[in-house]
Amino acid sequence: MSDAALHSDLSVGETAALFADVRGRTAKLVEPLNPEDMVLQSMTDASPVKWHLAHTTWFFEEFILRPRVANYASPDDRFAFLFNSYYVQAGPRHARDKRGMISRPTVADVAAYRAHVEDAIATLLVSNREDLDEIATLVELGCHHEMQHQELLVTDLLHALSYNSLMPAYRDPEPMPVTAAPDLAFNRHDGGLVEIGYSGDGFAYDCEQPRHKTYVAPFQMANRPVTNREWIAFMDDGGYGNDPLWLMDGIARARAEDWQHPLYWWQQDGEWWTFTLRGAQPVNLDAPVVHVSYYEAEAFARWAGARLPTEAEWETAHAATPIEGNFLDNANLRPLPGTGVWGDVWEWTGSAFLPYPGFQPPQGAIGEYNGKFMVNQFVLRGGSCATPKAQMRHSYRTFFYPHQRWQMLGLRLAKDG
Ligand code: AVJ
Ligand code: FE
Repeated sequence: MSDAALHSDLSVGETAALFADVRGRTAKLVEPLNPEDMVLQSMTDASPVKWHLAHTTWFFEEFILRPRVANYASPDDRFAFLFNSYYVQAGPRHARDKRGMISRPTVADVAAYRAHVEDAIATLLVSNREDLDEIATLVELGCHHEMQHQELLVTDLLHALSYNSLMPAYRDPEPMPVTAAPDLAFNRHDGGLVEIGYSGDGFAYDCEQPRHKTYVAPFQMANRPVTNREWIAFMDDGGYGNDPLWLMDGIARARAEDWQHPLYWWQQDGEWWTFTLRGAQPVNLDAPVVHVSYYEAEAFARWAGARLPTEAEWETAHAATPIEGNFLDNANLRPLPGTGVWGDVWEWTGSAFLPYPGFQPPQGAIGEYNGKFMVNQFVLRGGSCATPKAQMRHSYRTFFYPHQRWQMLGLRLAKDG
């Protein structure tokens, strides 16, 4: 791949190490699970764990092994149909909402598929082919892709487990540390003609590039995300039924799905509880609110006399803040109270997921990775307690539809300067 949009500062050896590390982490993530856990599909947006395991493997096979290795033999060529997610240039594919119907290949077959592709990629990376740098760059992309799927794997699993009245915990229930949330404060920023987006030699997705100038008016950014205590105040104030606070589409969705609180919440003896990857837990009032849609976040911000930040505000306000926080690696699997900027919850911005000026996706099927989703979605920043830390960057943009709630989605308030 000679596209300018894909480049790497890793040596081939470092790429091989990254590959082994990422694949090993995925295997570790599914260790606590039974095969029965791995085939559930609770909704169209969410995929079975087994499908994630196979799809991330297919990605290396489809974009590296098939086009580059003349005598490559797949364990089963028909897997391509089952595990192609959405790449129309990679051929026809299984219906997204029927991924829970895939009982074969079995979990064991998928483990063998993973081992087969891991062997082939590892062998390729120690070869002395002329296109080794290009291959390594694609392997790095495949690793970042797999990290995105590690997050989807655990959040999709949470959604599936939430339908079980036994409320199975993915990892041992563990009480949340008792830490008070700091008082809400706003930091003022001058704005001006700023630069956002990625520029550098390391890995970044096409949608983070090119780095470009944009004008930002003076603004204020909250020192921490919105907490559950603040969210309950909104609920107690009738926020969910207060139509003038809401966007038209938001009211329609809130009515249709009967939203009265964040996803996974219920009330028990006058106390709010929530289902987490560590089982049922009382809602921690000091922790950032999570599992709220854009519509809810936007209405909350209006109720609070504030607004959502734009992505340029978010990126420039935190450009000098080192990326440390509560990520998947920390294994808390829930947002924790604190002042963190990075990790805990993805923060909705008021910015549509659009191409930056000069955006250029790679040629071919890989160009479909992000670019074709640039309509009707909103950007979120900062990463979450389900995000592997290694995939985070100051310029990292994820994106979801404004009604979606099952990811680790929260918000931070902003105001005009
Ligand atoms: C960036 C999280 C919205 O869920 O489709 C996975 C990540 N892209 N495989 C998604 C992704 C290709 C993407 N999000
Ligand atoms: Fe994918």
